[in-house]
Amino acid sequence: MAKEKPVILTCAQPTGQLHLGNYLGAIKNWAALLDDYQCYFGIVDLHAITTPYVPAELRKNTLTCLAQYIACGLDPAKCRIFVQSHVIGHTELAWVLGCLTPMGQLQRMTQFKDKARGKESGSIGAGLLYYPVLMAADILLYNADLVPVGDDQKQHLELTRDIAAKFNNTYSPTFKVPEPYKHGSGGRVMSLQDPTKKMSKSDANESGVLFLLDPPNILRKKIMSAVTDTGKEIVAREDKPGISNLLDIMSAVTDRSAGDLEKEFVGQGYATFKTAVADAVIAHLEPIREKCNALMEDKETLNKVLQEGASDAQRRANRTLSKVYRKAGFMERPTLER
Ligand code: TYM
Repeated sequence: MAKEKPVILTCAQPTGQLHLGNYLGAIKNWAALLDDYQCYFGIVDLHAITTPYVPAELRKNTLTCLAQYIACGLDPAKCRIFVQSHVIGHTELAWVLGCLTPMGQLQRMTQFKDKARGKESGSIGAGLLYYPVLMAADILLYNADLVPVGDDQKQHLELTRDIAAKFNNTYSPTFKVPEPYKHGSGGRVMSLQDPTKKMSKSDANESGVLFLLDPPNILRKKIMSAVTDTGKEIVAREDKPGISNLLDIMSAVTDRSAGDLEKEFVGQGYATFKTAVADAVIAHLEPIREKCNALMEDKETLNKVLQEGASDAQRRANRTLSKVYRKAGFMERPTLER
């Protein structure tokens, strides 16, 4: 019998629009994995309600996220794409895992501390603290071997590994302890307005964020007004975070090394360089935007992808969840009449 391909699982939140960080740090790289792995790509709407949101926008963003996944190269014929809330098992498994996870470890998560900073504990939903446990459940429900994530999610993946090992030790070996999948580039795309901070959907200053569906004139405007550093050289260096970020971005969208680009721009000014970055980003994103817009007109195809993704994901989730429930000591579920 042919050996089963290793399982890859990864997800993005449909909070607002996807941006260039999500694309270069994540989705672009996922598309290269389709032939060699069994890939599960989730759109995690349950995570998206851990911070204030508007329900109608969430529904719309979930569908747009799907269209963007496909437009970015996630061919639904070669992978499963599903919406987290469509698959029963994510929250159920999260509950069991949460009972094994020390509170202190959740309170130490950098993302929780960042999002909770400056807020009264009374105004933070418990879901924000519990967020990484739900993420662990997403991964372990599919018994994933490998999880490709950008640098900002590494700590959550470490926690997932701890939780998997703890479950295996407390009950009996059940979960594979998932490994991070290392991508070559794009692990950390920074804000154009503050290149010491990652590009983020929740950034209050949208001019630092290049959204995948931004039209060309907006992309150009944002890139031309990107914060640069003192001096005139176009080089990637620690004391030049703005130029380094633009070089990384250009390198990722043109598949050329930063060193190669540095040579090309020796002696040229920031304005010439930024124009070239804008041209390269626009040329790369334009076909994606067009494909996404066309897909948004074809709801039938999008719904079919979600239907197939959910049934496949549900089959795999059921297997894990029934195993976990048995090990946790729950009685077998009675067969219910519909
Ligand atoms: P999210 O939705 O914030 O981001 C989706 C993916 O994009 C990566 N990413 C970045 N990479 C480079 N530079 C950036 N500026 C940047 N911003 C985001 C993220 O690392 C991620 O890979 N908690 C996760 C979603 C999640 C998940 C999971 C991921 C839920 N369950 C299970 C993997 C496995 C998140 O908020 O990603």
